[in-house]
Amino acid sequence: MNVRILIPSFFSIMVCCCTFSFGQKNNALPKLITTNGCTQLYVNQKPFLVLGGELGNSSASSIAYMQPIWPKLKGMNLNTVLVPVYWELMEPVQGQFDFTLVDDMIQQARKYDLKLVLLWFGTWKNSMSCYAPAWAKLNPEKFERAKDSKGKKVEIFSAFNKNNLDADISAFTALMKHIRVIDGELNTVIMIQVENEIGMLTEAREYTNAANVAFLQKVPDQLINYLKTNRNNLVPEFLKMWEKNGFLTTGTWEEVFGKGLSTDELFQAWHYALYTNAVAAAGKNEYPVPMFVNAALNYKNVQPGEYPSAGPLPHLMDVWQAAAPKIDFLSPDFYNPYFRNYSDLYTRKANPFFIPEIRFEANNAAKAFYTFGHYKGIGFSPFSIESTDAPAEEPIAKAYGLLQQLAPVILQNQPLGKVEAVLLDSLNQKQEIVLGNYKLTLKHDHTLSWSPGAKKPNWPETGGIIIQTAANEFIISGTGIVVTFSTATNNGKTVGILQADEGIYDNGKWIPGRRMNGDQDHQGRHIGISTKEFAIQKVTVYQY
Ligand code: DGJ
Repeated sequence: MNVRILIPSFFSIMVCCCTFSFGQKNNALPKLITTNGCTQLYVNQKPFLVLGGELGNSSASSIAYMQPIWPKLKGMNLNTVLVPVYWELMEPVQGQFDFTLVDDMIQQARKYDLKLVLLWFGTWKNSMSCYAPAWAKLNPEKFERAKDSKGKKVEIFSAFNKNNLDADISAFTALMKHIRVIDGELNTVIMIQVENEIGMLTEAREYTNAANVAFLQKVPDQLINYLKTNRNNLVPEFLKMWEKNGFLTTGTWEEVFGKGLSTDELFQAWHYALYTNAVAAAGKNEYPVPMFVNAALNYKNVQPGEYPSAGPLPHLMDVWQAAAPKIDFLSPDFYNPYFRNYSDLYTRKANPFFIPEIRFEANNAAKAFYTFGHYKGIGFSPFSIESTDAPAEEPIAKAYGLLQQLAPVILQNQPLGKVEAVLLDSLNQKQEIVLGNYKLTLKHDHTLSWSPGAKKPNWPETGGIIIQTAANEFIISGTGIVVTFSTATNNGKTVGILQADEGIYDNGKWIPGRRMNGDQDHQGRHIGISTKEFAIQKVTVYQY
């Protein structure tokens, strides 16, 4: 017997008491605000950097299993945890909801002063429908599966079946209503990921009867109108597809976009996006916090159908944006080595940048600095964050330790264009950035001939974030970087280091520590933070 069903949770009992105060506080909900083209997440009415980590898939299905994990997460300097909500456990009997796991998660998060991003493992999780409740799985007549072109059913619920959609909407709506009631005031839950890595396999589209009928119909006006309105702003990959047959504004999918797997994928993406939008819309109707979707990236050179297709991938950004306006942004999950390339693709079209998953490894630290500094990101989150035995020693824990201190100054300066970052390795040993009247040259620590490791063939990825806090003043933070300064104005002057202090921010207040002179700044030649260190320095420069 399922114990979870029998014990009414503290929060369930509180439901009635809290319902009425929500309306008054509605304007304080987590929300996205764009200033000077830079979108930030506001939590409790202040901008917020998500220093996150995502739990392994099954960890949050057991309260007992989670118990030793909470202090670990806190010990890694996270301020947010990304946790799944499992449809099968939340609605074990159709129409009967069990929020025990969600309630405990929220209580524990509050205890450890953490925020939550909930991942709705609903209709789809990594393409498949493994988290659909048994009552839905066992009734395939009603809750239809997708079929491949040979008519074989696959373990993927069809995006064209209204029963599937209604069931997901009903569960997701119940979840969002519950969160509103128990969390509408404190806002522990700050965002929601709708579904997880949606993507069709092993073909580019599904072949249920409804899908086949829809495929022969005209491209919907909603998409055509989007194409017309956004013609000059489409991602180039998609513009090319539309161009192929002469920018037609009427016709079937194959008439407008041509025959082939790319069109099949486009068609399926449209329907995935419509479905997900309907789920998000219903959820937001109950409780309108920011909602996003994530993508398994198609980085190998293979055809649609061979990778999880039709998800919120870079070449399909327009389709997703056109069909799913209730989805606030599209996010990449990083398990490939092409961090810059895909980050560049996902920051097109004013898409707010958030990384819900990245493989948990030592170079996360450098990439976190780059995400917040270069891409003005909202958040960063290594996957399976609890899978470490030395939480405080993890590079990401050290980076988050710095970023937590720096968050107010980063957030204040992101929209002002006064924040930049670098990401360095053996192939990219040097980067230049311009902030105000200064050009900063940042090199990998191992470019110094005396740096231990300089002779090694593969250098670790290093990086840092730089914030200009006054005309001649910079906050430099990171690991494995060497910084020199020159003027950006070609005024013939030389730039010297007037003063450099290592220090910490304590609740936004700068507290200087060591004066970094002599060997520490190579007798005034450069600012240095070795690969072994994670540090913040405040630097004042001058011109002569
Ligand atoms: C990406 C998925 O979104 C996660 O839930 C998990 O399955 C990881 N892949 C595993 O690498």
